Amino acid sequence: MRYEINGRILELIEGDITAQTADAIVNAANSGLRGGAGVDGAIHRAGGPEIMRECRQLGGCQTGSACITTAGRLRAGYVIHAVGPVWRGGDQGEAELLAGAYRRSLELAAEKGLESIAFPSISTGAYRYPLAEAAAVALAAVMEHLSGETSLGRVSFVLFNGEIHEVYRGVLEQQIRNGGN
Ligand code: APR
Repeated sequence: MRYEINGRILELIEGDITAQTADAIVNAANSGLRGGAGVDGAIHRAGGPEIMRECRQLGGCQTGSACITTAGRLRAGYVIHAVGPVWRGGDQGEAELLAGAYRRSLELAAEKGLESIAFPSISTGAYRYPLAEAAAVALAAVMEHLSGETSLGRVSFVLFNGEIHEVYRGVLEQQIRNGGN
């Protein structure tokens, strides 16, 4: 599914984020930038050891924020390591932290003057954030960014299977009906 905001594209696709050609791909990282399973494991495996070398130099990244490295052997130019929250029931500031991880990723990409960025569904695997709630936060953060000043002309969500893709599509359609909220 594709949606246009201010002449810029927000798209939902099903696939593997490591195969994306965007200027930056986003990792669902932990605050120690220590690597892990899920998207994190796939990105480090595909990108090679250079990414971890840079992560060690950064030393970590706060939950609700994001940090940037080069992308090793990946086709993307950069990896943005976004640290979403662990779901703890929803009353521990999870939504604000998740929005922060998306916002900071988008800001970092715009600061570098990038044209395209690809996100996975942050926090919805090992960190157990309920999918529809996470999709609502993610899509709202991206729509807000794309309605302002930015170098980004394309933001993609690369969703790992059909079920996740369907949930994001349903939430995006609902937000469009509600006027982008
Ligand atoms: N491409 C796209 N999406 C993927 C891929 C991939 N190659 N691999 C997994 N996913 C999907 C999962 O299906 C899930 O929907 O990414 C989403 C996020 O899941 P996780 O990778 O588990 O990320 P998160 O919930 O944010 O947990 C982060 O897990 O791997 C560790 O080091 C990481 O500690 C951190 C934690």
